[in-house]
Amino acid sequence: MSSEYLILQLPSANRVYAEDAPRLMRAELAAFSEAVGGIADIDDVELGGLRYVRFTTPELTEQRLALLSNASSLYGLFERVQPDLLRPVRIRPLDKFDSDLLTIQKYSGKTNEQFTRLLLNVTCLAMAEPLAMLRRPLHVLDPLCGRGTTLNQAMMYGFDATGVELLERDFEAYERFIKTWLRTKRFKHTAESGQLRRQKHKLGRRLDITYAPTKEEFKAGRSRTLSFRATDTLHVDEIFGRHAFDVIVTDAPYGVQHGSRQSGELQRSPRDLLAAAVPVWTRVLKPGGALGISWNDLVLPRAELLDILSRAGLKPREGAPYEQFAHRVDHAIVRDLVVATKPA
Ligand SMILES: C[S@@+](CC[C@H](N)C(=O)[O-])C[C@H]1O[C@@H](n2cnc3c(N)ncnc32)[C@H](O)[C@@H]1O
Repeated sequence: MSSEYLILQLPSANRVYAEDAPRLMRAELAAFSEAVGGIADIDDVELGGLRYVRFTTPELTEQRLALLSNASSLYGLFERVQPDLLRPVRIRPLDKFDSDLLTIQKYSGKTNEQFTRLLLNVTCLAMAEPLAMLRRPLHVLDPLCGRGTTLNQAMMYGFDATGVELLERDFEAYERFIKTWLRTKRFKHTAESGQLRRQKHKLGRRLDITYAPTKEEFKAGRSRTLSFRATDTLHVDEIFGRHAFDVIVTDAPYGVQHGSRQSGELQRSPRDLLAAAVPVWTRVLKPGGALGISWNDLVLPRAELLDILSRAGLKPREGAPYEQFAHRVDHAIVRDLVVATKPA
């Protein structure tokens, strides 16, 4: 006999995704179920005037609970013991830090942090080892990282994080933010920044941080790394070499207010940028690793992006739930996501 569980979503999820929040949560749960199995009957219910996302499972094993606890818009989890009686379940998210790491920065062009978590989750689950995210610190690259929403989410999970962004002003803003945050929280860290060079050519700027939540962890070598390179994403393979990352997660330029930039100029459409960059990113991805991209469906049809991924030797996930994440952001953007695995 299966038990029934209800998820209350973060109130902010409804503001961000309007009517789409429960649908996106259902698709995310279905992706969890593909990885760990045994999550069924996913739908919505209304109880006491609130909407919940519902699922059933034969057993809420440690592993299922550990995964579900990270669902991107989960606020509370309850077991439904009687039709109108709920028992709270203590969740165990991977989160290592206060949520202000994700929410302090506010700027135009920021990718919504809940959506970033969703994209990171679904991408990690697409790895050849889908539960790797629960087992070890992964190394995440965001090769179009803006001011670092993905980097912060990767830090939250206790992962190593590397970002690449062309705009020096984003690099500077992120450097200011993260150094202040680490200092304010009194986390033991070292930070090094300078020019990024390759065979005597200046490629841009670099920032390398090593940090740990406590002095003891820092001393014991249980520290994490955070790196940022202000340069063109097409240099990623020269800079990092092959097989450097477990997971690559990025929110591509929408081709609307935030252009796709090459050599500092607005030249490329997201299509041209992704066609040039995906093969480069694929080289730095470990075999068995996964790439997740969100993009504006109105400027690049899904089929074309799948083609770019396949030509780079990746295996895009097709069918449900991977084709159920499209949602409208504004009149000019319908954001969708795609995940693809690099054969092991
Ligand atoms: C949608 S934004 C990412 C926003 C980011 N997720 C955040 O929350 O800050 C896409 C980013 O790609 C950057 N970009 C565009 N072309 C690039 C290139 N060739 N190399 C590196 N970055 C590029 C843009 O400057 C922009 O910051």
